[in-house]
Amino acid sequence: MSDTGLVLKDVYRVFPGDITAVSDVNLEIENGEYIVFLGPSGCGKTTTLRLIGGHDDPSSGTITIDGELLNGVSPAQRPVTTVFQHYALFPHKSVLQNVEFGLKMQGMDKTAREQQATAAIELVGLSAMMHRKPRELSGGQQQRVALARVLVTRPKAILLDEPLGDLDRLLQMKMRVELRGLQRELGITFIHVTHNQEEALSMADRIVVMGDAIIQQVGTPTELARHPRNEFVAKFMGDNNVLHGTIESASGGNVVINTPHGKVEVPGSGTAGEKGSMAIRASAVNISTDAVPAVNGVRVRLDFVEYLGDSIKLHLDFNGEPFLAKVDEERFGEVQAYEGKEVTATWSVEDGHLLEQ
Ligand SMILES: Nc1ncnc2c1ncn2[C@@H]1O[C@H](COP(=O)(O)OP(=O)(O)OP(=O)(O)O)[C@@H](O)[C@H]1O
Ligand SMILES: [Mg+2]
Repeated sequence: MSDTGLVLKDVYRVFPGDITAVSDVNLEIENGEYIVFLGPSGCGKTTTLRLIGGHDDPSSGTITIDGELLNGVSPAQRPVTTVFQHYALFPHKSVLQNVEFGLKMQGMDKTAREQQATAAIELVGLSAMMHRKPRELSGGQQQRVALARVLVTRPKAILLDEPLGDLDRLLQMKMRVELRGLQRELGITFIHVTHNQEEALSMADRIVVMGDAIIQQVGTPTELARHPRNEFVAKFMGDNNVLHGTIESASGGNVVINTPHGKVEVPGSGTAGEKGSMAIRASAVNISTDAVPAVNGVRVRLDFVEYLGDSIKLHLDFNGEPFLAKVDEERFGEVQAYEGKEVTATWSVEDGHLLEQ
């Protein structure tokens, strides 16, 4: 176990009524990482964040930062701080007063707290607006004030629960870049909770995918997009087709699985007769008017076409089941497909991958 960074070991949180919100969480976060907890509603993201921030206690397990045990330590005494949603800024106080408020409560004298607050405001690039009220700032600037207010406490990690949740899409995009840039400048660990895949993929050094109270997978955005470990991650990360069947044979580093979608060949190993599942990314699926090949190909009907700007998502139908492909405009034009037309969807062996059962 690492003695630097934030470490969650065998962490559980069971609420009265036998509600297991967080189960068997083991996670090591290095100092300075941008970590995103991603998962559907109710999977335990906020609960995990509250356990780290000290707003709730684990039923069992330990949480340490740089080797120091956090269990039982109050939020104010922890070297990790939560930025609450809506930033909770005082509307009638200036930026400076907002930022120094916590230090004032701690009883720090005026000169010292002004000095520290000014330094934090400078860090987030708001020195020129120090005497403005929150309403005289943009949404992005308000978030910077909220961060400055947390930074004066010199935390080792900053926790953010759905920080971009309520913002309109354009502002969200802008804030992603801002927040990420600020984290890089500060070099502090950020733990950011969201249920938005795109947000996670665009911001995280590593994503922790949660589902059903457990960690389903931890990985870089690329790892998760290319190598989802199981069906949950493959489907939740989006645009994956998951096929199930029985392993027919295994040789030369590949397995052949018999599925209702025909035979599929995929890199990996397995035992004939056992269950096998594989995932194939929509963007790795090609469409053509060719005959269906013996492996890795299905005849599908084009249900509808979704224009994404830089690519085209094809919602296909295989015997009543959805199948997805993402192609570029050129390819789409070549096939001359129209909604209702039958086409052949194929993919390469190396683009598919085996999932854990
Ligand atoms: N104080 C509580 N008492 C009982 N059950 C709780 C309590 N807090 C959370 N839960 C339950 O624990 C589970 C996880 O909740 P949590 O708030 O961590 O989910 P989440 O992943 O943050 O979801 P969302 O994306 O909707 O915010 C849910 O089933 C929730 O109903
Ligand atoms: Mg939540």
